[in-house]
Amino acid sequence: MCGIVGYIGEKDSKEILLKGLERLEYRGYDSAGIAVRNSEGITVFKEKGRIADLRGAVSGDVTGNTGIGHTRWATHGKPSKMNAHPHQNTSDRFTIVHNGVIENYHHLQRDYLADVAMESDTDTEIIVQLIGKFVEEGQTTQEAFSKALQLMKGSYAIALLDAEEAQTIFVAKNKSPLLVGLGEGFNVVASDAMAMLQVTDQFVELMDKEIVIVRKDSVDILTLAGEKVERAPFTAEIDMSDIDKGTYPHYMLKEIDEQPAVMRKIIQAYQGENEKLTIKPEILDALQTADRLYIIAAGTSFHAGLIGKEYLEKMAGIPVEVHVASEFGYNMPLLSERPMFIFISQSGETADSRQVLVRIKELGFPSLTITNVSGSTLSREADYTLLLHAGPEIAVASTKAYTAQLAVLAILSAVSAEARGRELGFDLVQEMGIVANAIQAQVDMKEEIEQLAHDYLSTTRNCFFIGRLMDYFVGLEGALKLKEISYIQAEGFAGGELKHGTIALIEEGTPVIALATQESVNLNIRGNVKEVAARGANTMIISMKGLNEDGDSHVLPPVHELLTPLVSVIPLQLISYYAALHRDCDVDKPRNLAKSVTVE
Ligand code: M6R
Repeated sequence: MCGIVGYIGEKDSKEILLKGLERLEYRGYDSAGIAVRNSEGITVFKEKGRIADLRGAVSGDVTGNTGIGHTRWATHGKPSKMNAHPHQNTSDRFTIVHNGVIENYHHLQRDYLADVAMESDTDTEIIVQLIGKFVEEGQTTQEAFSKALQLMKGSYAIALLDAEEAQTIFVAKNKSPLLVGLGEGFNVVASDAMAMLQVTDQFVELMDKEIVIVRKDSVDILTLAGEKVERAPFTAEIDMSDIDKGTYPHYMLKEIDEQPAVMRKIIQAYQGENEKLTIKPEILDALQTADRLYIIAAGTSFHAGLIGKEYLEKMAGIPVEVHVASEFGYNMPLLSERPMFIFISQSGETADSRQVLVRIKELGFPSLTITNVSGSTLSREADYTLLLHAGPEIAVASTKAYTAQLAVLAILSAVSAEARGRELGFDLVQEMGIVANAIQAQVDMKEEIEQLAHDYLSTTRNCFFIGRLMDYFVGLEGALKLKEISYIQAEGFAGGELKHGTIALIEEGTPVIALATQESVNLNIRGNVKEVAARGANTMIISMKGLNEDGDSHVLPPVHELLTPLVSVIPLQLISYYAALHRDCDVDKPRNLAKSVTVE
């Protein structure tokens, strides 16, 4: 949540900051701001709304070759110009941007700043006021920054300007991601390498509780005690074409279309010698030692985890529990004797999952992160990582990361099955090839699927998804997709569960979308569809060829039954996309949301 950028060099910083913020808008987009420093001091521009709104507010007359910027997802204080970052202390000497949450900001305000009049409702202002106060008391800026950091509890990525120290951006992080990018005669700061790929692909990762002094031709990393730390840069391997929308109207549609290619890429990435699927032996050993796996995830990744349980149990024979991250850390169930934890997270930054990782590490349990972002917090902090290889996912609604998660979970399960001497009974590489083709067939049927969205969802206020077995879990994901981007109230249910209460909500015309891809319950789900149709529901059946019946609304090409979620989710993604489009919703940036949820 929230993205920050900084630039120090020879050029005017404004355009570099604004372009960087545009690339970070996925992290939050309710308000934004930049601060630019020149010989006359620091000028702050901020605006409620998107970066496009901020652009309109930035004056071309003000230039400065040092600057910081921020795009916000509000936590403390509503989205407004007043609460937008950068924030300044009362004397305006210090200017700050911050991503994260300062949990003890009330205490800090009470203990140190009782006599200071705050200008915003944010926790962030407390930091900059604290630094200002400590400097007034005689400390240097670096000492004051360090002292403030030591007093703060919570998560932060911070960039700080001092009007009296023109050649420096002070930087620090704790639990929130932050990188310093290196250039010739300039350096930059960014929450994500993507933001600054326009000027460099060389980045240095920052660690928690370090202070970094960024100047135009030097970067000094220090511990809070002031000791120097050496760290080599890495090359960000992101292709600019991966982060451009190209000719697509929305990232979501581009990312839906990329799914066949992502499937093939994942298979290649996990093929070793003789094109055999492989997983690092140490991961297999850890899985072998565990007597139960605990999958921890949020949102779409949680839905992928529910299917992952099916794969790991059915293919590899390992018992699995799946838990919502935000609940698990505060209500840990009785664990087995030798648990192992699997964190599924597209971003690798989800704070709810991270709090569980921190706890289970304290307890000494092994952990594996399945993520799209190498070097992300959950990847760095877990014992092992499996990458999704899906390429950057920029639309807030997760699509290709979900199918990539399913594919990697299937590979993990199949390879673990082999390591345990269990017969799979099918060739996963071959079946995944069939899946990639089936996904392609779906993305090629956009017109037909758009028509379904139009027929069923153009005027409704609510919608139900039903399914049994794995179709139930895909229905949960379909409902999440629909509600988050079209704002239609949508819920997923196990087909048999509706009659235990929810059926009371079915009225004349209520859309009910049923999935029918599981042979053993095909008749049951069709029975459930009849129950709601009898009460007036407008039913849509999406079935798998071979299980289809006359009158089904959409028929999917056949794939291996375990892999059906990879295909059946595609029309649901497209239905959501078109429903949102027909309602003039901002598909890529739905209200109140952000892509990377780095606050608990
Ligand atoms: O980055 P993560 O996979 O950990 O994110 C978890 C959820 O916030 C995320 O899946 C969210 O539900 C999706 N944006 C929904 O499309």
